[in-house]
Amino acid sequence: MGDLEDRAREALTEIESAATPEALEELRVRLLGRKGEITAQLKALGSLPPEERPAAGKAVNEAKNAISAAIAARRQALSDRRLDEELSGGGIDVTLPGRGIPPGARHPVTRTIRRMRDILTGAGFSARSGPEVEDEFHNFTALNMPENHPARAMHDTFYLPSGMLLRTHTSPVQIRSMLAEGAPLKIISLGRVFRRDSDQTHTPVFHQVEGLAVDESVSLANLKSLLHEFAERFFERKVEVRFRASYFPFTEPSAEMDVRWGDGGWLEILGCGMVHPEVLRHGGVDPERYTGYAFGMGVERMAMLRYGVTDIRRFFENDIRFLGQFAP
Ligand code: DAH
Repeated sequence: MGDLEDRAREALTEIESAATPEALEELRVRLLGRKGEITAQLKALGSLPPEERPAAGKAVNEAKNAISAAIAARRQALSDRRLDEELSGGGIDVTLPGRGIPPGARHPVTRTIRRMRDILTGAGFSARSGPEVEDEFHNFTALNMPENHPARAMHDTFYLPSGMLLRTHTSPVQIRSMLAEGAPLKIISLGRVFRRDSDQTHTPVFHQVEGLAVDESVSLANLKSLLHEFAERFFERKVEVRFRASYFPFTEPSAEMDVRWGDGGWLEILGCGMVHPEVLRHGGVDPERYTGYAFGMGVERMAMLRYGVTDIRRFFENDIRFLGQFAP
């Protein structure tokens, strides 16, 4: 036992004076490793007479703990010293290039939404929002789609167990805004809409931009000039547009606007029309006094055209190799 104590004291001194982490590690292996001195002492306990074992075991364990603690303390001291040296001396080469942080970029859908919003607020529209969980009244009935109206079937609607639904378009915000603010009114609404639909050009969640202008003498001519101007600002070039008669329950007359695209073809980009008197009435606006125009378009569709993206699903996969291409 006397030997053990001497040996332990010696070991502590050696540890104290280990000059490098490597030397310290060598010491650790020699003392506490699988074939180390202290380990050997622990193993030897088994061969002592039973009555000597408790005292001897205690002594070996104390030596082992003291050595472990000393090694840990020395390791910390050496590493602190190394860090101090690196910080104060030539340890850091400040001429090395930095690691670099790749810059982030706005999502192309966000960029497109903001772009549309900026163009339209520049034309005097104010942005409004509405709930994504809607009721049948605002999403359908008030928009002149009563129950059993065939147009309801065209919107593959997500119904919730409560009887509410996920809005299938941003048009219900027309109703909410008229009810809340009355006429005159000039608003846009940009946001998420939901349909049970999924393929190369449809995703269950997408975004729309809706516009509504209500006043005493709002005309189809106002609508056409606004949308033509919008298209040219959005695509940043002169574009040829045409209005094709169409049908939406909430507008009369209704039209779709096409832009001339590629080699002489036409591409539909939005739906629009003069607000149906029934819709004004549901919004609490007197159709004898006021008229209105409205329009709605898909944000992803516009982004696809502007950026030449052919599969809408790319926008939702969040592959940064794709997203990184839209940085300004
Ligand atoms: N709500 C229509 C849709 O989701 C788009 C639309 C068409 C909105 C014509 C309008 C409009 O405001 O006048 O397909």
